[in-house]
Amino acid sequence: MDTFRIEGPVRLSGNIRVNGSKNASLPIMAATILGAGKSVLKSVPHLSDISVCGELLKGLGCEVGRNSDGDLFIDSTTIDNPVGEYDIVCRMRASICVLGPLLARCGRAEVSMPGGCAIGDRPVDIHLRGLRELGAKIDLKNGYIVAEAPDGLKGKEIFLGGSFGSTVLGTANILMAAVLAKGQTVIESAACEPEITSLAKCLNKMGAKITGIDSPRLVIDGVKELKPVEFEVMADRIEAGTFMIAAAITAGELKLENCRVGDMMAVIDKLRNIGVTVEADGDNCVVARKGAIKAADITTQPYPGFPTDLQAQFMTLLSLAEGNSVIIEKIFPDRFMHVAELSRMAANLRKEGAIVVVAGVKKLIAAPVMASDLRASAALVLAALAAEGTTMVSRVYHIDRGYEKIEKRLNPVGAKISRIKV
Ligand code: EPZ
Repeated sequence: MDTFRIEGPVRLSGNIRVNGSKNASLPIMAATILGAGKSVLKSVPHLSDISVCGELLKGLGCEVGRNSDGDLFIDSTTIDNPVGEYDIVCRMRASICVLGPLLARCGRAEVSMPGGCAIGDRPVDIHLRGLRELGAKIDLKNGYIVAEAPDGLKGKEIFLGGSFGSTVLGTANILMAAVLAKGQTVIESAACEPEITSLAKCLNKMGAKITGIDSPRLVIDGVKELKPVEFEVMADRIEAGTFMIAAAITAGELKLENCRVGDMMAVIDKLRNIGVTVEADGDNCVVARKGAIKAADITTQPYPGFPTDLQAQFMTLLSLAEGNSVIIEKIFPDRFMHVAELSRMAANLRKEGAIVVVAGVKKLIAAPVMASDLRASAALVLAALAAEGTTMVSRVYHIDRGYEKIEKRLNPVGAKISRIKV
């Protein structure tokens, strides 16, 4: 298990190109199941989650690899084993999003229940409710979801909302099941995340008939079959947000290229409110901070609200603000694995249930800390960039799940991160 040794404080300055989105890539990789043949996906990042999803697709019978341009190809001509095995699904919960396309293509699917993870329970009840509404028979056997629709799926009006708002991968699953269903499906309270918009556009390019894209009401007219696709994956807004916060926490200046500013208004608004300058110029933006960080309150919400995937990173930034901030996590109430670790670095945090009061401190102090989940780990790296001294961050495999060699992206702009193989 690798460990990062991070010297601080540093001031980041320079250009970083934002990679393709992990959370857009994963459902689109699953969507290639629907179009028998060879699909080619561009700008798919080299991440462990992507490799795990590739392993899952190979287990179904697909051929998966990278061509000489680095594009990811998936040949789904043969799907002779519609089973998502436990030892893969337990490593990456997003594997659940092969359930819908497998059911649509093969009429049956077995996918291991994903189980929880460091950010809390990850139920899939809404995924299953939606598939039942489309006519699937769903049973749970020995930890596996067994789904059958031998006569195909039938379109229906489905409400996908929950107490928290909408489910992103639940919307993806039902959308991918509905594109080959007989008749029309209407998904009410669909997730509006940009990654869902991207998936819908990809499915339409494969021959699906989806309207209402970018809205909470998706209308899908079932078609007979879909074709393989060549598709460019969108830029990663969470990676971009992480780098914006890196510029802010180090009082530096970063120019981010391939940055979808339009997808990030909730984050940019908050950054501007606390004294960070964000100047957008097409697909690039310059993020800088010179003066003090002001305190701010944050509540995570479904898109276009403040994204839960940037809560930990923003908490780290606010731990150096002048004054007190309040962070309310409405999507994953347990998503606070970073709180104890940041406190070890002298952050002043008080957690009450799904709320954390952040009392700003003058500085963070280096300490040995442990990564726990993807975004909490990114937050620890950000803290280490600003902290005084040498921070050791262990279990960095959590970071490698969602950030491609983050040390190779940050060191050229002034970070001092060394990866130690232990
Ligand atoms: C996606 O997860 C993302 N993952 C997550 O990013 C992200 O945090 C999350 O959406 C919210 O934006 C991918 O896209 C691969 P949800 P997903 O279903 O779809 C509840 C990262 O760091 N819920 O939108 O699994 C659930 O408990 C990852 O990149 C049910 O109750 O999240 C949560 O409270 C972490 N029943 C809320 O919905 C269900 O059937 C939102 O979860 C499904 C979800």
